[in-house]
Amino acid sequence: ERIAVIGVPMDLGAGRRGVDMGPSALRYARLLEELEALGYEVEDLGDVPVSPAEVLRRQKGDYLEQVRQAALALKERLAALPQEVLPVVLGGDHSLAMGSVSGVARGRVGVVWVDAHGDFNTLETSPSGNIHGMPLAVLCGLGHPRLTEAFRAVEPEDVVLIGVRSLDPGEKRLLREAGVSIYTMHQVDRLGVARIAEEVLERLEGLPLHVSLDADVLDPALAPGVGTPVPGGLTYREAHLLMEILAQSGRVRSLDLVEVNPVLDERNRTAEMMVGLASSLLGKRIL
Ligand code: ARG
Ligand code: MN
Ligand code: MN
Repeated sequence: ERIAVIGVPMDLGAGRRGVDMGPSALRYARLLEELEALGYEVEDLGDVPVSPAEVLRRQKGDYLEQVRQAALALKERLAALPQEVLPVVLGGDHSLAMGSVSGVARGRVGVVWVDAHGDFNTLETSPSGNIHGMPLAVLCGLGHPRLTEAFRAVEPEDVVLIGVRSLDPGEKRLLREAGVSIYTMHQVDRLGVARIAEEVLERLEGLPLHVSLDADVLDPALAPGVGTPVPGGLTYREAHLLMEILAQSGRVRSLDLVEVNPVLDERNRTAEMMVGLASSLLGKRIL
């Protein structure tokens, strides 16, 4: 089986600098070697072009056009891949997922968004104005028309959020109205990730799955290299078990590894953690 790795060195959607170095950190943590060790034929397609923030003037709220352009470039590259190739997208801030999900969607796709946040803001509901808090809404057709026209790709019924513990007030309302399934950390504690993973697979029955993994879903003690840490995240064991159960379904067709910020990290441990999770999701087993 073939995997294509593609980087999106972008931090324009985030409030803090540094996630643009995430693709390097993930490659440095031996992502390609780990996937090859699982028996895949892995090709690194390099990075999508992104305008560096240093050459743009920071204005409150948006790099909307630049983020749109990078996500569109990603969408086009993914849409051009042969259907049997499994893309692994390296971020970069989470706004790139507008391009990854819309690029892999050939008909219906189930989206498993594993994140401390909902990323379901619009320009109106966002307290920060940061675009990485908006991509899931855009994919569902809510938000700035410049974005929704380019990236609307999924029905809210085909989306599941796992690990959530920080939502903005307007975002909460939008999520409820849209009808996205949400497993907060409260549900993780009560039900456990095994039960949640099984429910998710049942809810998204029959659909190819895209997993969008935001490093900040992990507890910040394990993954300090993120720009928007929230206490009380997934443990090492919960995160791996979730990946392993999704892997066993055989339905995972694409993956984002996003929000790794090496500037804020400790000796690259967050990238290493993400590489381990990618391995579990793509079939690594203990026995
Ligand atoms: N809800 C906050 C916002 O919209 C935080 C979003 C964090 N998103 C992320 N992909 N890390 O600004
Ligand atoms: Mn996110
Ligand atoms: Mn997040």
